[in-house]
Amino acid sequence: MLSEKSRPVIEQTIGVIAERIPAITPEFYKSMFNARPDLLDGMFSRSNQKNGTQPQALAGSIAAFASHLLKNPDSYPDEVLSRVAHKHTSLGLLPDEYSTVHEHLFGAIAADLGDAATPEVVAAWDEVYWLMADALIKLEKGLYGQQANDVMFAPFKLISKEDIAKDVIAFEFEPADDTPLTRPIPGQYVTIQVKVKDGIRQPRQFTLVPSQEGHRRVVIRKDPQGEVTPILHEDINEGDILEISNPYGDVVLDEGHSALLLASAGIGTTPIVSFLDRLAKEGSQRKVTVLHADHSLGRWPGRQIMERLVDSLPNAQMITWMETPGEGDHEGFMDLSEVDLDVDEDTTAFMCGPLPFMKGLRSQLIEKGVPGRNIHYEIFGPDQWMLHDEARQA
Ligand code: FAD
Ligand code: HEM
Repeated sequence: MLSEKSRPVIEQTIGVIAERIPAITPEFYKSMFNARPDLLDGMFSRSNQKNGTQPQALAGSIAAFASHLLKNPDSYPDEVLSRVAHKHTSLGLLPDEYSTVHEHLFGAIAADLGDAATPEVVAAWDEVYWLMADALIKLEKGLYGQQANDVMFAPFKLISKEDIAKDVIAFEFEPADDTPLTRPIPGQYVTIQVKVKDGIRQPRQFTLVPSQEGHRRVVIRKDPQGEVTPILHEDINEGDILEISNPYGDVVLDEGHSALLLASAGIGTTPIVSFLDRLAKEGSQRKVTVLHADHSLGRWPGRQIMERLVDSLPNAQMITWMETPGEGDHEGFMDLSEVDLDVDEDTTAFMCGPLPFMKGLRSQLIEKGVPGRNIHYEIFGPDQWMLHDEARQA
């Protein structure tokens, strides 16, 4: 809980801090990576630094955390903390690094605010930083403790590479040593480390899809402008060894019996396939509606497996939207006004796809009667939605 001394200081300065974050963030990272270039080798994604998605996420989340503490003094924003802790642990982050971020972030704040960074202001924001850091460190310790081993990454050998859609390859790995394996929960992801052209390692997350017991299988779309996926598609071959993390991620299927609505676009099918596989293995009687949008049938990753799994579930149906005329049940982008969805009041929805797709769909789902709190999503990059869209909390 925020102290009585710091609360008024945070109230007075949160506006200016939030406003200055876009200017503070580049200075913070510049100073941190100058002092610790090793953090760009295996920890931070260089591309997310360059395209600007991650920098704003980290610093922005501290202002969002402070704003939550002002409005709800007795609670923490659990959803945000959980998402960040899962991402951190998938990268092998250790508690000692929190002082590194603190030093460089507060250096950048002091430089930017100048005389306005009085000792009272610095002390109050220090308190917010450490409240958040301590909450994350605690969650991260718990997540590491749930694993079957105490290593951050273990070697895995690529045993098969299979084209499954245009620019999409399924990679199957088997353990290359005897590190005990954690069994993943459907919907979870791993971080894979790949050595890039200049010899440094770049980490990327990929959702685990159903595989033979004891293997790790991921389905990867090539981003032609990306740093890692072109290497995975073109230069990594059967027999090669890659370092892969334990499974993490909190966007997972609930154990309940309520109706499910599973919506994906493009490569966003990966968690949905894992959910459907688990439902099929359990012989689930749940009412399941699968919605998928894509450019064309040929670009739909996991089409065959999704069709097979939906057919095997007694109360499941699938509806598709394809941009290519004549290929889907409907043409163009996903539009729920075109379908007669019978939504139960306790329906749980999961979405995965590009952010504009999920934002549009969320509004449509709410209009159809799905409660906002039951709508969950996975974003294939730093989450800028959870932090900055208060309407999403509705
Ligand atoms: P990156 O190098 O990360 O580049 C991404 C984009 O950044 C590029 O398109 C480019 O436009 C931009 N960029 C790069 N450099 C610059 C620059 N200098 N200036 C401006 N912009 C730039 N992907 C899958 O295929 N399958 C999955 O199952 C999957 N699951 C995921 C699960 C989670 C939880 C997360 C977070 C991500 C997941 N992803 C998945 C996405 C994956 O982790 C990668 O982000 C994605 O594959 C792109 O990686 P890349 O290295 O090829 O591209
Ligand atoms: C990701 C917050 C400390 C390294 C993130 C994200 C947030 C965040 C919001 C984006 C999560 C997502 O949606 O994917 C914080 C906060 C911290 C903190 C509030 C301190 C209180 C640290 C430290 C390190 C670190 C100490 C390591 C030095 C990373 C990395 C990512 C990340 C590598 C992945 C992002 C990428 O490269 O794209 N953090 N973080 N963080 N954080 Fe932290």
